[in-house]
Amino acid sequence: MKPTDTPKTYRVKSFGCQMNVYDGERMGELLEAKGITLAPEGEEADLVVLNTCHIREKATEKVYSDVGRIVKAGRKAGKDPMIAIAGCVAQAEGEEIMKRAPAVGMVVGPQAYHRLGDMVTKAAAGERSTDTDMPEDAKFAALPARRKVAPSAFLTVQEGCDKFCTYCVVPYTRGAEISRPFSALVDEAKRLVEAGAKEITLLGQNVNAWSGSDYAGHAVGLEGLIGELAKVPELQRLRYTTSHPADMHEGLIAAHGEVDKLMPYLHLPVQSGSDRVLKAMNRSHTAESYLKLLDRFRAARPDIALSGDFIVGFPGETDAEFEETLQIVDAVGYAQAYSFKYSPRPGTPAASMDGQIAMEVMDERLQRLQAHLNRDQQAFNEASLGKTCDVLIERKGRKPGQWLGKSPWLQSVFFENELAIGDMVRAELVQAGPSSLQGRLLESVSA
Ligand code: 5AD
Ligand code: SF4
Repeated sequence: MKPTDTPKTYRVKSFGCQMNVYDGERMGELLEAKGITLAPEGEEADLVVLNTCHIREKATEKVYSDVGRIVKAGRKAGKDPMIAIAGCVAQAEGEEIMKRAPAVGMVVGPQAYHRLGDMVTKAAAGERSTDTDMPEDAKFAALPARRKVAPSAFLTVQEGCDKFCTYCVVPYTRGAEISRPFSALVDEAKRLVEAGAKEITLLGQNVNAWSGSDYAGHAVGLEGLIGELAKVPELQRLRYTTSHPADMHEGLIAAHGEVDKLMPYLHLPVQSGSDRVLKAMNRSHTAESYLKLLDRFRAARPDIALSGDFIVGFPGETDAEFEETLQIVDAVGYAQAYSFKYSPRPGTPAASMDGQIAMEVMDERLQRLQAHLNRDQQAFNEASLGKTCDVLIERKGRKPGQWLGKSPWLQSVFFENELAIGDMVRAELVQAGPSSLQGRLLESVSA
């Protein structure tokens, strides 16, 4: 690699989960603190960070083709852009990427990106570097303070996974479960609010496994943190994601009935409705124990909107076992859900299991599953008609003059009124589509 000027502009492209979006924002802030500014829309950046996801199919191939595209676009603009690969593919495949893609100057894992600034300095001196260390909790303390954020902001409170579901790369790419300390989180949340956040979504791969000590030194679970954050006056909404059924506890369930700012929404992946498949996946719950858990949430908060994740075509899944997944979907009535075809991940136990399922079978199962999920999402939206609720405006809609926000149940609600990002408006839900609702403005709650 040749020495170059220190980059003046950057762009971070994040793929995958919300935690990656959060990490991408923090990398941006770190580069800004180094005097590198966001490249203007439509202009090639001097430094491009690909913040990758490894959860499914073709993740590594996508990195190579994205790198090729960045180099080509840079050349066209008369540039030789510096390229950093971050995120979960960097963690899993970093060394291989360094070997195969000479245009890549930096590989930085999800637990090491606080060192990105130094790596950029090295890259400018012509030195390529890889950092996929997993130092415990060093990252957050070393990052610059939050400055300007969207009205709905993310806050990583817990990271990593010790559950080792047999299909999943996350325990390998994100490392062991850690909880960030209570006071650091309250401080960061306050700074997010000062920077414009009205809603905070607490993030973790197993967010409900978060634990810490409150200011009095008492051991608390996630509901303890939620209770403290709810005291921040300007913060209006709290959410959390993603939870694991095995870590769910009474305190958090009860918080849904007690803390007004905690939104009536729960994302609780089940993956399959078949107990045999769940066992093979190393999920520590059954279909029935999952349903019982949901009953407790509904008892605490009857209007709670439920969301889940599903995998079809896990190795050995029979037609009858897939039918059990449809049955659990029908039993729950999800407001929203994510469904995927099983994708063998290198190094995971399921990748070498017998009975890998043919793609056509997975395609067909996914279609059938999605038909059930779409039906339920539409039904949930229709059942919301006539309800009055607050909507937090997040962005302009697709049509001119349209504004879009989120209901407490995380539905997209659009308005034909002139509004602004960050408005919290009172609305009646008047029309329901499969993926959004129309709102009728009742009054402006706060600007
Ligand atoms: N194949 C397909 N889907 C997967 N997920 C995780 N690993 C895989 C895989 N190997 C899905 C799960 C998880 C969501 C984040 O991604 O449903 O909850
Ligand atoms: Fe993708 Fe999982 Fe990594 Fe998020 S944690 S970026 S979903 S592999």
